[in-house]
Amino acid sequence: MAPPEMKALALGQRYWITILINVLLRKGISHGVSIKTAPTPKISPTELLVEVHSVACNPTDIMHIDIAGPAHSIIGCDFSGAVLEIGSQATGNWKVGDRIAGVVHGGLFPDKGAFAQYLRVESDLAWKPPESITDQQAATFGISAVTAMQGLYTKLDVPWPSPRTRNGAEEAKKTILIYAASTSAGIYAIQLAKLSGYKVVATCSPHNFTLVKSYGADEVYDYHSPTTLSEIKVKHPDIEIAFDGVSLLESAQFCADVVAPSGTKIQGVKFIHVLMYTLFGLPFAFLKPIGPYMGLGYEAMLEDREALVRFYGMLPDLIKEGKVKSIPVEVIEGEFEGLERALGMLREKRVSGRKLVVDLI
Ligand SMILES: NC(=O)c1ccc[n+]([C@@H]2O[C@H](COP(=O)([O-])OP(=O)(O)OC[C@H]3O[C@@H](n4cnc5c(N)ncnc54)[C@H](OP(=O)(O)O)[C@@H]3O)[C@@H](O)[C@H]2O)c1
Repeated sequence: MAPPEMKALALGQRYWITILINVLLRKGISHGVSIKTAPTPKISPTELLVEVHSVACNPTDIMHIDIAGPAHSIIGCDFSGAVLEIGSQATGNWKVGDRIAGVVHGGLFPDKGAFAQYLRVESDLAWKPPESITDQQAATFGISAVTAMQGLYTKLDVPWPSPRTRNGAEEAKKTILIYAASTSAGIYAIQLAKLSGYKVVATCSPHNFTLVKSYGADEVYDYHSPTTLSEIKVKHPDIEIAFDGVSLLESAQFCADVVAPSGTKIQGVKFIHVLMYTLFGLPFAFLKPIGPYMGLGYEAMLEDREALVRFYGMLPDLIKEGKVKSIPVEVIEGEFEGLERALGMLREKRVSGRKLVVDLI
């Protein structure tokens, strides 16, 4: 039984003026997040209550703290832990005490977020980590892994892994560019593209070349080098799709230049924006009441939700078979206080080629 109250990292009151300053200065000068006491969430019939063991930190947590999160929302998306309560209509044969991991829409609700002692999650939007991985590693298969899945399988039409591609029985016929391959999302995108039988051409900084190759990239280039674009274009004129792991103006331009047919301009290249929050299959809006207007509202996307269910359904076997590995983990000690330190490291962009994970228990 969970106690009636729990510790959580949550926002306090929100003031438009501080949000505006943060937006204009592009950094969080002022934000009202702190460790609070909050009611332990009550589950719906289709949900599970999870005792949270480990959480992973993502850039979006900072974005919600500084700008997007409404007052009193609990921050945090990626978690692993143990099942404590099971809703009467929950699916998935969950048992109390089972290991569990997944992702929730953190930074939006006052009673749902990973940076808390307990969280509620839909029973089909979580997965069962095998014994071969730790809670800390399991927590990394949240935002980064599901964004890679969403980008490849639901937006870029990369086929889901078949038994043949999964076992490397087919020679790669197509090539994908994975730009910023050392990001957490990039490292998962490499592995998923390889599982679908693609050859992977990757970019990252030279200090991450060995890492990116160890996750399966066939070739790696330095995105800082002025000759990289022409080298890739000459060697791989056949690349038709790219996954951009950072989504900046220059990265989008680079990807478009690579996939544009030789000698043509980038008109005709299709840019597809991925937002992992659509994977929950619910409508939502940022910055209410400005959202859902001004492009800040999102419709429910049930096909995205189905893709998440399918992915988490196959993930335990992929891990057991050694086909997908967790990205490297750096554990930050100190439970909730450690979490604040970890978010500070992310804010200062001191993270490269690894995921910051904090044990909350
Ligand atoms: N839309 C969505 O749903 C969604 C989901 C997940 C993430 N994201 C966004 O994707 C970005 C990456 O997230 P993450 O958690 O995967 O990040 P992360 O692992 O924390 O990113 C760190 C990596 O970023 C790379 N990097 C930094 N600046 C770069 C640049 N200008 N060009 C290329 N690479 C650069 C660094 O690579 P090197 O050290 O090798 O240079 C470093 O390894 C963030 O902006 C995040 O908000 C969006």
